[in-house]
Amino acid sequence: MKIGVPKESASAERRVALTPEVCQALVKSGLEVLVEAGAGRGAFFLDEDYVRAGAKVAPDAAAVFGVADIVVKIQKPTDQEVAALRAGAVLIGLLQPATSPSTLALLAQRNVTALALEAVPRISRAQSMDALSSQATVAGYKGVLLAAAALPKFFPMLTTAAGTIRPAKVLVLGAGVAGLQAIATARRLGAVVLAFDVRPAVKEQVESLGAKFLQVEWADRETEDRGGYAKELSEESHRREMELLARNIKDMDAVISTAAIPGKRAPLLITPEMVASMRPGSVIVDSWIWPPKRAATAP
Ligand code: NAI
Repeated sequence: MKIGVPKESASAERRVALTPEVCQALVKSGLEVLVEAGAGRGAFFLDEDYVRAGAKVAPDAAAVFGVADIVVKIQKPTDQEVAALRAGAVLIGLLQPATSPSTLALLAQRNVTALALEAVPRISRAQSMDALSSQATVAGYKGVLLAAAALPKFFPMLTTAAGTIRPAKVLVLGAGVAGLQAIATARRLGAVVLAFDVRPAVKEQVESLGAKFLQVEWADRETEDRGGYAKELSEESHRREMELLARNIKDMDAVISTAAIPGKRAPLLITPEMVASMRPGSVIVDSWIWPPKRAATAP
């Protein structure tokens, strides 16, 4: 059985689906591993590291896709990559199934068995396959570091001979895995942190990290489904949420947005008016600002 590790083709993607360490374990268990040359470079794993781990290095993507029985990837495949897969192969990765119907149709046409890691249930016995939590942890941590680097003032309170500098105020939207990590990181850097989430259950977790939880009186009876995930809000609840955010965002130095609803587009929470209400130099960290491609810092 051959496992193929292609180089990620998405721009700015630095991750690789298999580290040399895991590769070694797979080779030990009798599998053959084929890694595209340079696949690990963005994550600082050299081809030599894979060779030492027992893998073979393939010169290009075609030499991986064309022979592998199982292909492991980070990002969903492009149409060309699907076409290059062997009919009947297995594909494992973060495949974004809920928003990629055309990719799924192509995979089905080629008789590929596709396993989307984000669809693995987040139950205790599947914890070792929980790719979402690890990536959310990185995003929450790094999001705050980016905000701290971009903000033209300190995060912590500083008391110096020349006077006292007040700490930065940070608002974290969404308090799931990424949001809680963002809160913890901003607190460690000394910021005053406020957080908001539609799931009332997270209030305690937010407060245990030393942040203030912003609360809304919802129009919906429930804002959380049985699995513990956020539900899409009614129009009235969304309006109340936006009012609360508009009231608070104007006083923030940094806003970190992590809100998401599984299988749906992330809610749009930061309006152009809110951005305009922020002080010059304030920072917003989000993967998506409304409308798309708008500047990420207040004017
Ligand atoms: P996620 O990435 O799906 O969403 C991020 C956060 O955004 C959530 O807390 C959600 O409530 C919030 N959100 C959604 N719409 C919002 C809105 N309009 N305004 C503000 N916030 C909004 O969440 P994640 O990190 O996947 O966690 C969701 C649940 O999964 C939690 O209950 C968590 O405890 C659980 N979980 C379970 C695990 C396990 O059992 N192994 C592992 C990790 C998470």
